Amino acid sequence: MSQHKPRVFSGVQPTGNLHLGNYLGAIVRFVDLQADHECIYCVVDMHAITVWQDPQELQRSTREVTAAFLAAGIDAEQHIVFNQSQVSTHAELAWVLNCIARIGWLNRMTQFKEKAGKNRENASVGLYDYPVLMAADILAYHAEMVPVGEDQKQHLELTRDIASKFNNDYAERIAELGLARTEDGGFFPLPEPLIKGPATRVMSLRDGTKKMSKSDPSDYSRINLSDDADTIAKKVRKAKTDPEPLPESVDGLKERPEAANLVGIYAALAGMSPQEVLNDFGGKGFAEFKPALADLVVEKLGPINAEMKRLLDDPAHIDAVLRNGAERARAIAAPIFDDVKRIVGFLS
Ligand code: AMP
Ligand code: TRP
Repeated sequence: MSQHKPRVFSGVQPTGNLHLGNYLGAIVRFVDLQADHECIYCVVDMHAITVWQDPQELQRSTREVTAAFLAAGIDAEQHIVFNQSQVSTHAELAWVLNCIARIGWLNRMTQFKEKAGKNRENASVGLYDYPVLMAADILAYHAEMVPVGEDQKQHLELTRDIASKFNNDYAERIAELGLARTEDGGFFPLPEPLIKGPATRVMSLRDGTKKMSKSDPSDYSRINLSDDADTIAKKVRKAKTDPEPLPESVDGLKERPEAANLVGIYAALAGMSPQEVLNDFGGKGFAEFKPALADLVVEKLGPINAEMKRLLDDPAHIDAVLRNGAERARAIAAPIFDDVKRIVGFLS
């Protein structure tokens, strides 16, 4: 018998360009967790359509995220990689959880407020309900750990609240059916967020107070995994900085968000601490630091970029990987949802 490996679940939306923030905040972490966890990585296409997506672009993007996973070193045979819409349990469980989650809880979600903007009446119902579908993603597999960037912390807390309320509301029934899975008699384990990784919050290259984002209108704000070496060098050269040289110690980065961000990116890619980077570059100007940073980004992302291109030349292969992953994901989620149906009282 193999030892119990904790189950990990995470998702990435196929919406436009994957960037260095996704890579350092999520994908690198996904790769590392494979050694001693059972990992399920999902391309969340159902989340993507909570805001308008061009259908062909959505297909392209779903393959691109999958290619990025594989190119970065995720092993889709040992672990599971699939797209959400191929496993209907996500939508089915989301419905049940919709009846557990409270409107007041969703009203507190800051990401909805940000994404909906001023015109909230015109946001899709799906955008509002997004966090409940995310809870379903995680709970459908009884996942114990969820690696995400800092921006997803609130959604993880909501997932735990939903799981707790389900466990409480149905406590008697769960016991009656002998379906308790946790020590305190719950059916859903409460998933732990893993917000560590080399860089949980990579900031925009144009504004060190805003996070690097797929949706920023300026392409110069981010480094995309699909950027070639020249583009990367140009973006780093044009990155916003201040006129001061780099400080000798991390304290000196406090009021300097742009400098702190570039040092943080360097540190994460080189596997160093920010202080170690400053030991090498403290006192030096950006004219010296930026070319070194550009070289490092190209060195680390170049091979991934090349492998993604190679994979994307064969979309049929990528689609086959996703179909195979979906089949294995379904085999885990379906029996768990059958139990949910019995707990809730659905006849079958
Ligand atoms: P998304 O693109 O919103 O689906 O995000 C995919 C993953 O990347 C999530 O775990 C996010 O928390 C993470 N992420 C997105 N943007 C950043 C960023 N600027 N810095 C660090 N992590 C990020
Ligand atoms: N909401 C996450 C994001 O934007 C993506 C996501 C969807 C996710 N379902 C998930 C992440 C389940 C972790 C677990 O980044």
